[in-house]
Amino acid sequence: MSEFSIGLISCGNMGKSLAQQAVTIDGARLACCCDIDADKAQAAASQFESDFCTSNDELFARDDIDGVIIAAPNFLHKDITVAASQAGKHVLCEKPMALSKADCQAMIDATNAAGVKLMIGQVLRYNPPYVWIDELFKSGEMGEPFSMQVTRQGGGWTGGTYDAPWRRKKETCGGPLYEINQHEIDFMRCIMGNVASVAALTGNFVSQDEFDYEDTATVLMGFESGGQGCLLGGHSALLGRYDGKIYATKGTLYFSAATGQVEYVIKGQEAKTVPNSEITGYEAGVRREVREWMEACLNNTEPPIPGEEGRANVEIAEAADISAREGRIVQLPM
Ligand SMILES: NC(=O)c1ccc[n+]([C@@H]2O[C@H](COP(=O)([O-])OP(=O)(O)OC[C@H]3O[C@@H](n4cnc5c(N)ncnc54)[C@H](O)[C@@H]3O)[C@@H](O)[C@H]2O)c1
Repeated sequence: MSEFSIGLISCGNMGKSLAQQAVTIDGARLACCCDIDADKAQAAASQFESDFCTSNDELFARDDIDGVIIAAPNFLHKDITVAASQAGKHVLCEKPMALSKADCQAMIDATNAAGVKLMIGQVLRYNPPYVWIDELFKSGEMGEPFSMQVTRQGGGWTGGTYDAPWRRKKETCGGPLYEINQHEIDFMRCIMGNVASVAALTGNFVSQDEFDYEDTATVLMGFESGGQGCLLGGHSALLGRYDGKIYATKGTLYFSAATGQVEYVIKGQEAKTVPNSEITGYEAGVRREVREWMEACLNNTEPPIPGEEGRANVEIAEAADISAREGRIVQLPM
């Protein structure tokens, strides 16, 4: 395989995870780590044996870089993607794709105009047990899913690995439906298909001193298939909970993200419990997304998670904001 040279934009938590996997892929070369924080750029460069810089423009100006991985704070994804594509670089952008559907569209338009590939890092769908569950439903054995409920409720950011000033403001983070729960929205779409309507209630009950957006969100989704979905997300739990239920015409499945265990039954068969230790053999999700993006760039094929997927997920978060604010059901596409 030809060599593919990568520039990393932002060397925080996720940037380092992406770099760690990128350097394990045959043919991938991490050429340069960039961050406005010179210490972080330098530390990542020394860990991954690359050059470093503190200006995205400097990275874009390098002829030897084929594509950039964008792991910057959410509010920067749109402008950095547009600038990268104008410089002729392929883009793998972290979720959430952006903080509005309009910004997602601008990213799609910019990459299309430049003839570069755009993939969104919706990695949850590649991680066990989600990838296993997705395969089970795609096999048809469970029949048609008609109802799905996911709860992902955790605590706040304070003092944790992910605490950063940009995560504490709606304007720069978006809130739970854009930040954490973009993963669950994406997974619900993987199982249930596209969303046709959204109704939501949101509120900040216990986190007013910590951030300026909702800490609790209840989102109902009507799917194009006629199926129903409910997502409970946010940061207001003293005891975190992360699990889901899927009801289908030939089966029922429950999963716990905490234990990675899946329980399911198919009509006419015995119920099964599959512990996480038996859900094995999958490539690390982050490695798979970087590899598939790189292969799409090298082979000039459509990336498996293109901008349209990220846009659909952001549109649901935006519709939930509108629904909660205006007290109405929002029909999609907006
Ligand atoms: N896929 C996942 O599971 C997952 C997990 C964590 C984070 N993320 C996503 O990754 C992104 C980054 O999150 P994080 O936890 O790494 O954040 P972080 O705060 O740890 O890192 C952000 C980095 O961006 C740098 N930065 C700020 N402005 C910049 C600019 N203009 N240009 C370049 N760099 C700049 C900061 O100096 C910092 O090093 C977010 O979009 C987040 O949603 C995804």
